[in-house]
Amino acid sequence: MVEAIKVRKQVTTHSGSLTILDSINMQILAGESAAIVGASGAGKSTLLGLLAGLDTVSEGDIRLAGQSLSQLDEDGRASIRGKTAGFVFQSFQLLPALTALENVMLPLELQNRRDAKKRAVELLERVGLKERMTHYPGQLSGGEQQRVAIARAFATEPSILFADEPTGNLDQTTGQHIIDLLFEVNREAGTTLILVTHDMALAARCDRTLQLVGGQLVEESDNAVA
Ligand SMILES: Nc1ncnc2c1ncn2[C@@H]1O[C@H](COP(=O)(O)OP(=O)(O)OP(=O)(O)O)[C@@H](O)[C@H]1O
Ligand SMILES: [Mg+2]
Repeated sequence: MVEAIKVRKQVTTHSGSLTILDSINMQILAGESAAIVGASGAGKSTLLGLLAGLDTVSEGDIRLAGQSLSQLDEDGRASIRGKTAGFVFQSFQLLPALTALENVMLPLELQNRRDAKKRAVELLERVGLKERMTHYPGQLSGGEQQRVAIARAFATEPSILFADEPTGNLDQTTGQHIIDLLFEVNREAGTTLILVTHDMALAARCDRTLQLVGGQLVEESDNAVA
């Protein structure tokens, strides 16, 4: 489903060239759940962005849903993303001028889904935001925005969900509810989950844990066997 082959990510800064990720090899199968863990600055968000085709590698390749991303231009990558992937960003990235409901409806409307509103309402109810549908992101708490972002990510029934700290802004009870929801969808719809998290309890519930240290993958554990 997603594969990284000898991936290197390098950026140019004022003080010269900086290698953020190096020699990353990994493979995540359809229906699997994987947690990417590591200290702040280890390169987790960067890796997630590369795997999702939101960013491009400096060397190596990413294969997403059978396609080699380095062979595609931005339009080609956008097309694969639209068909297969859902995202929950570390910074939510909700559209400020749209209400919670409209934010969740947007990806469905882009696919001309007639049931856009009905489905968006259902999803917002599922994340516990029934009473907040007509609020704008600026009128929502961080955790509420997080939940809108999660509802939006699930809207188009992606075959793979990428989530950067999906429970980072949530209290324990709400976080647990969201985790249960993620794994429910993983089970029911066979959605592949790739999660960045600091939460070891969440990581332990994933099939696999990938640990990044200073831009390198140092440990891969199979949680089912461990
Ligand atoms: N565009 C960029 N230009 C320069 N440096 C960058 C860029 N993007 C990321 N970095 C650096 O690369 C490193 C990895 O960043 P990344 O956001 O992937 O870390 P992270 O593991 O997600 O951290 P956190 O847990 O704090 O979210 C950091 O040191 C960051 O400062
Ligand atoms: Mg990050």
